[in-house]
Amino acid sequence: MVFPEYRPRRMRQHETFRAMIRETRLSTEQMIYPLFVLPGKGIREEVSSMPGVFRYSVDQLVKEAKDCLAMGIRSVILFGLPEKKDGLGSGAYAKHGIVQRAVQELKNKVPDMTIVTDVCLCEYTDHGHCGCLAGQEIDNDATLELLAKTALSHAQAGADMVAPSDMMDGRISEIRTTLDEHSFHTVPIMSYAVKYASAFYGPFRDAAECSPQFGDRRSYQMDPANSREALREATLDVDEGADILMVKPALAYLDIISRLRDEFDLPIAAYQVSGEYAMIKAAAEKGWIDGERIMAESLIAIRRAGADIILTYFAKDMARLLAKTK
Ligand code: PBG
Ligand code: ZN
Repeated sequence: MVFPEYRPRRMRQHETFRAMIRETRLSTEQMIYPLFVLPGKGIREEVSSMPGVFRYSVDQLVKEAKDCLAMGIRSVILFGLPEKKDGLGSGAYAKHGIVQRAVQELKNKVPDMTIVTDVCLCEYTDHGHCGCLAGQEIDNDATLELLAKTALSHAQAGADMVAPSDMMDGRISEIRTTLDEHSFHTVPIMSYAVKYASAFYGPFRDAAECSPQFGDRRSYQMDPANSREALREATLDVDEGADILMVKPALAYLDIISRLRDEFDLPIAAYQVSGEYAMIKAAAEKGWIDGERIMAESLIAIRRAGADIILTYFAKDMARLLAKTK
């Protein structure tokens, strides 16, 4: 059936029709909001390269989480800035570390909030790498135990889900085994399964103060040129027991999200990272783009590519927009 019998514009005439046949939707339930927590009291400081994103002390974090919940945002992912850093990133798995305290307090004061924790060492190591070192090299297998200890300490503090972001080989099985040995069978692992060595993480490294002090992350994060390798990484994590597969960054890697969606039946998450957020905010502040529409369009694109879940700094902005247009 061709023109004039078939006219695709018939179904685009008004919003009722458009909404009726809309294939993809956004809702706050599918979003996870990243939050940064630091030691101290009464602190709420804006990240300079991420307008609208703040670093909170635990007391302020509780307030923020209550706000989020009231807006319909039901999960957050926590990143911590420790009091001090060392070679082994011991602040990451300290019983009373910053994230552990934050989780406990949030679970106490905002019990309906679902808490995911980022599991990595880079915010806690003085050298800024995601693993511990043997000389100038990242010691993959020695790192696994530290990551598992970190994930366990988060679960013991009350985390609902752990999300390893380090990209060491074998971490999912090590974390799964450790959690199970301590009867945390019900705590899922959202794996940063396909994480690229990306310049889009720039503003995050300011926010979390975790830039590598020498070299870069290309010996563990993936080469942006590779797509088949993403399937291999994801397959390993599925076999090792991952519950959710994440792709990161998001907008520049929609093809990867789509491939994973086709190949795997696990839920797929995508992380719209700090640089993606900062670019949109900056251009909008300059008046060069319509920030609200570009936010919504990029989030819908990530969903359309196949992501079930989106980790995004826009969660609150998007929640406001959704509430307005309802
Ligand atoms: C730490 C980590 C990073 C991000 C999430 N966890 C930074 C990195 O790997 O360098 C990036 C998040 C963002 O840019 O918003 N492993
Ligand atoms: Zn890291």
